[in-house]
Amino acid sequence: MDKSKVANITSVLQEQRVFPPTKELSRQAHIKSLAEYRALYSESIRSPERFWARQAKTELVWFKPWSKVLQWKLPIAKWFVGGKLNVSHNCLDRHLDTPIANKAALIWEGEPAADGKPGEERVFTYRQLHREVCRFANVLKKHGLQKGDRAIIYLPMVPEAAIAMLACARIGAVHSVVFGGFSAQSVADRIADSQARMVITADGGFRRGAVVPLKRNVDEALTIKDANGHLLAKSIERVIVLRRAQNEIQMETGRDFWWHEEIGKVDAASAPEKMDSEAPLFILYTSGSTGKPKGILHTTAGYLLGVKLTMKYVFDLKETDVFWCTADVGWVTGHSYVVYGPLANGGTSLMYEGAPNWPEPDRFWHIVSKYRVNVLYTAPTAIRAFMKWGVDWPKRHDLSSLRLLGTVGEPINPEAWIWYHEIIGGKRCPIVDTWWQTETGAIMITPLPGAIPTKPGSATLPFFGVLPEVVDEAGVVVPRNSGGKLAIRKPWPSMLRGIWGDPQRYKEIYWSEIKGSYFTGDGARQDKDGYFWIVGRIDDVLNVAGHRIGTAEVESALVSNQKVAEAAVVGRPDDLKGQALVAFVTLKTGVPAEASLREELRNHVSKEIGPVAKPDDIRFAEALPKTRSGKIMRRLLKQIAAGGEIKGDTTTLEDFSVLARLSAVEE
Ligand code: WT7
Repeated sequence: MDKSKVANITSVLQEQRVFPPTKELSRQAHIKSLAEYRALYSESIRSPERFWARQAKTELVWFKPWSKVLQWKLPIAKWFVGGKLNVSHNCLDRHLDTPIANKAALIWEGEPAADGKPGEERVFTYRQLHREVCRFANVLKKHGLQKGDRAIIYLPMVPEAAIAMLACARIGAVHSVVFGGFSAQSVADRIADSQARMVITADGGFRRGAVVPLKRNVDEALTIKDANGHLLAKSIERVIVLRRAQNEIQMETGRDFWWHEEIGKVDAASAPEKMDSEAPLFILYTSGSTGKPKGILHTTAGYLLGVKLTMKYVFDLKETDVFWCTADVGWVTGHSYVVYGPLANGGTSLMYEGAPNWPEPDRFWHIVSKYRVNVLYTAPTAIRAFMKWGVDWPKRHDLSSLRLLGTVGEPINPEAWIWYHEIIGGKRCPIVDTWWQTETGAIMITPLPGAIPTKPGSATLPFFGVLPEVVDEAGVVVPRNSGGKLAIRKPWPSMLRGIWGDPQRYKEIYWSEIKGSYFTGDGARQDKDGYFWIVGRIDDVLNVAGHRIGTAEVESALVSNQKVAEAAVVGRPDDLKGQALVAFVTLKTGVPAEASLREELRNHVSKEIGPVAKPDDIRFAEALPKTRSGKIMRRLLKQIAAGGEIKGDTTTLEDFSVLARLSAVEE
């Protein structure tokens, strides 16, 4: 795609509804008014060092104070230089001499068995979690894992995933969590890139009643060779195996050890390692839409401060809250808002092992009512699935405990926003649409529920210390209501510190596109009130007959039609227009895919957005190809739309059969 005209993105979707916070809610919130938000925000931008020093001092526990708040030499930021602290100490030990010690830190619900037997339930108080983490930290040490070493965590959504992460943090080892749905090849690639010494895995994990053979995948990963015949995973010395699914596995003597056996051989005392503010905390691989995965590096103090503060203010965390972020710990959302953010705040984090529609499509609502969940944080793709399954499922359950809802991962179409607000939130819960990235570590653009009025589809305003702007090719701010590239002008504490082992690529991808600024890769516009509307990845912005159109906007228009469940729009090269719009559409249950519906939908988009956005092709499909984190794989759809064969990496695809079915759809 020709990126030179991105600044003229035609942002056509106009949403007028505004939802101000209720008085009652504002009164009880951490940040109580727009004026209070604006005052703090402007201080955070005007005097960032003063602002961040105060936050770091009040929010975190330090072994040794820092000497310099920020040392910034583009593209390398160092925050709280000279300070010493430990993330697991800040998430656990600090609570032990407070009333929080005996509060639930983690509530875990297992997936129901295939025979309908209810899932297990395990609860860890802060004291119990601390004990487990200390023990496992000692196991890691006993097996030779040292400060600075990397460990791969390849586990299902079980409490031990959080325990393993915190244990690594405790001894100063760097974890790299690999999502349990990834293949042996992905595991091997990540081991090779990170040069990890250890893999922490399980015999198997449960997913919709089936067993995912994690240990077998690890065994296979350890045999995979690169093009030159070298083992990719030669750096691995130990594999620690959690017993979870009881499936049959092989254990290699001297290399593989059972978690439960090792834990019994160590003592329960473990002093947290005193880590530098800038010591690496974790590497998380993100595939992006193209190319080889990038190992996004996060460090200790800045990351922790970012997740602690956003957790507190964005979710307006209360002492008694049960907070449920539905993301897997394999994604950054799981790192920041299942584990580190909630625990650093002494919160109660709910963790669920399974899928939203197993054994039935009301699993989430069952869990909300069972644990009286107060804050639910999930993804638009899940919300659209709930809409598709129908209102009867949530209606069966008591959702009155919910007081706040959140979304993350992609632009939420206003239709889904309103549904979430009305059906799940009972019209009383504000929605925080949070924009951020693996790279940003923590939430960046977001409503604060007691202070910032929301508009469906907008992530609203920047969080403290974040200075986003919408700019053109030259890096100049575009006028309000015009589209452009989303840039972040200043470094912020939880920003990535690099791509593991590839400083050049780090500089090129993030710090070269827009002079002096961080380039997010997203397109956006700011409305007259300064609200940010994320249009989607720049790669997903199309040039149709001279108009730049965000595919997300066309999708949103399609989904606003009652018959449509989900839509993905991609470009196909077109001699006349540059690009033509191809829409892949799944219909609500019971709606027949008739030819006449194509015309109806094309006209619907034309009516909603304008004739420029009218899709040239509409293809009906049973399902869309998605990554396991729920992102639609547009790269594949583009290839299908262009009539070509599927090339490139498909290992992140949730369901391979979708592809064959899509390629076969008749025109
Ligand atoms: C990309 C980052 C951040 C955790 C999950 C995804 C898109 C994310 C929003 C939002 C519009 C959003 C952006 C961003 N995105 N949140 N609220 N509104 N778009 O992490 O895989 O690193 O993806 O997700 O395009 O750049 P990720």
